[in-house]
Formats: sequence, C-alpha cells, structure tokens
Amino acid sequence: MVNVLVTGGAGYIGSHACKALAAAGFTPVTFDNFVTGWRDAVKFGPMVEGDLLNRAEIDAAFAEYKPVAVMHFAALSQVGDSMTQPGLYWRNNVQGSLNLIEAAVAANCKNFVFSSTCATYGDHDNVVLDEDTVQLPINAYGASKRAIEDILRDFEVAHGLKNVIFRYFNVAGADPDGEVGEFHQPETHLVPLMLDAIDGKRDALTIFGTDYDTPDGTCIRDYVHVCDLIDAHVLGLNWLLDGKPSRVFNLGTGTGFSVREVIDRSREVTNRAVPIKEGVRRPGDCTKLVSGSTRAAAELGWAPKRSTMSQMISDAWRWHQTGHYNS
Ligand code: UFG
Repeated sequence: MVNVLVTGGAGYIGSHACKALAAAGFTPVTFDNFVTGWRDAVKFGPMVEGDLLNRAEIDAAFAEYKPVAVMHFAALSQVGDSMTQPGLYWRNNVQGSLNLIEAAVAANCKNFVFSSTCATYGDHDNVVLDEDTVQLPINAYGASKRAIEDILRDFEVAHGLKNVIFRYFNVAGADPDGEVGEFHQPETHLVPLMLDAIDGKRDALTIFGTDYDTPDGTCIRDYVHVCDLIDAHVLGLNWLLDGKPSRVFNLGTGTGFSVREVIDRSREVTNRAVPIKEGVRRPGDCTKLVSGSTRAAAELGWAPKRSTMSQMISDAWRWHQTGHYNS
C-alpha cells in the first residue's frame, strides 16, 4: 500500500483528490479537523481526526501511515473572511502548514504537493499571469499562501523537501458520479450560491460589484473543473515520485468569465431564472484573475476534460440537487 497523507481530505477539493488517488492505486489518508470538512466525504481511505496546529497529532499520523507524499489542501480559503480576520488566516494557514512541513521532514517524507492560489498574484493590469508573475496579494488569504510557498522553498534548500506548488484559479463542478461535491456551510462561492438562488434556497444571488473596469463591470475569473484540477495533482505527485524537480504550476484554463457571464450560462444550463441583486464590491476581490500559462499542459501533460463552463455548472447542478453531507 502506498499511502499519501491528504490534509483537508474531507473538504471539497481534498475529497475529490482522495477519490482520484484511490483510482490511481494510492491509499489516501485523510487528515482533517472537521471544522469545515465532512466525515461523510471521507470514502476512499482511512480518516485521521487531527489539527495542523497540534504537531503531536501530525507526527502520530506520519508514524502510523508512513506516507510517501503529502497533498496539503487544508486551509481557510475565503477571501472576504481573510480581510476581517487576518490573524486567523495567518495562524491557521501558515503556522499549520509550517507544523506539517516540519513534521514531514522529521518523518523523512520528502514529497509535498501544495494547494496554492492565483490570489497570490493580486491585481495586475493587462499582465498575463504565468508562474513568473510577481506575487503581490491584496488579501490575507493570498498572502498566507504566498508565505507557505516561501517556506517550502526554504525547506527544499535546507532539508531537500521536494514540492509541487499548484496555483489554482477558481474551482467549480463536482464528481460526475455524484460521490463527492462542493458543500460548504456557510457557502460563499459563486457557483453554489447561484444554484441556491436558482432553486429558491436563498432569495437572490448578490453580485459583488458592478463597477469594475471590465466589459460588463463585474469581476472576471478563470474557472477550472475540480476533477481536472485533481488530475493535475496526480500528475504532480507522480512527477515528484519520478524524481523530477520542484516546480510551480498554474491551474486554470486561460479563459475568463465575468460574474454576469457565469449567471447567463447557468440560466442556459438549468433552464431556470437566476434571481440577482446588484451589491457593492467585496473587500479583497481582484478585478481579473485569468491564467496565462500553458506550463501544466506542456510539462505535466495536463489536459482538462470537463472545464467548459456548461459542464462545470451542469455537474455542480446535478450534485446540488442530489448530493449533500449530514456530518
Ligand atoms: N461573487 C459574487 N457574489 C457572491 C459570491 C461571489 O458576485 O455571492 C463573485 C466574487 O466577487 C468574485 C467571483 O464571484 O468576483 C468568484 O467569487 P468566489 O467567492 O466564488 O471565489 P474567489 O474568487 O473569491 O476565491 C476563490 C477561492 C479561493 C481561490 C480563488 C482564486 O475561494 O480559495 O478562488 O481566485 F484562491
């Protein structure tokens, strides 16, 4: 059995990773504190309840499962919250990751796949965002992730910890088999909130800002299907296990959609009206985040299969109607 320690394996992206790892012949060992994750989402391997702020709990997981690699998803990840509670973000994300990284080195587990974000880039006017773009985050969430990237680089130099860093653009969609999906409480992300508004679970979707410098005034994001994103993680894991060097990869499709365009596409896919309200800007939001890199395709052989907007909304809609977790 080849174990991979998956922090945040009970969360949206981590649970899809566990499914893909199991399908690829690995045993995903979920390490999660269940603050935002769901026990019901842990279906593909063992589950360890533990907190990254508790080093002894991490050490115990390494000792028991002897993983060949870590996939580190666990994090607080809401841009808006990070602006009002920066201390929480720095402590949880950075201190928690430092504990994990030190524990990995102590256990001689030297392969580390890290979930970073395009929020580390910040606002760049008319600049193609590739992996060499200077990272100037404008919110505490992005800043915390950039700090973890720096820690990983230092630990490679000092301790030989090999890493693959993925900078995600906006993740959407759900497992087409309906085994796992996106389920946050409270929900803050555009696509699930919009689906809630469509089927009456909330009054309306509020558009955060209609006065951005974009063609229709709303923010532009690059959406990628969670299953495609995870395909890249399995490729990244094998990259490290094959002895290839540490590397950073953007994970986006290179196509931007404004908030209004996402709403329009949802109307078409679900054939239902989307009740909307126009609201003020959300602090911390960048105007436009679209990947300008083809590195993951060129070097990892990553080929997104489900990342059209219609497919992502249709998979999310199916999950929205049939899937949820109780605990
Ligand atoms: N939005 C609305 N109304 C809502 C929710 C979101 O208009 O009710 C807008 C946001 O302002 C933004 C876009 O929809 O322009 C996407 O917002 P999300 O909250 O869905 O996603 P974010 O772009 O804020 O952040 C997400 C993840 C981060 C990740 C980032 C990369 O939460 O972890 O994508 O851009 F880093």
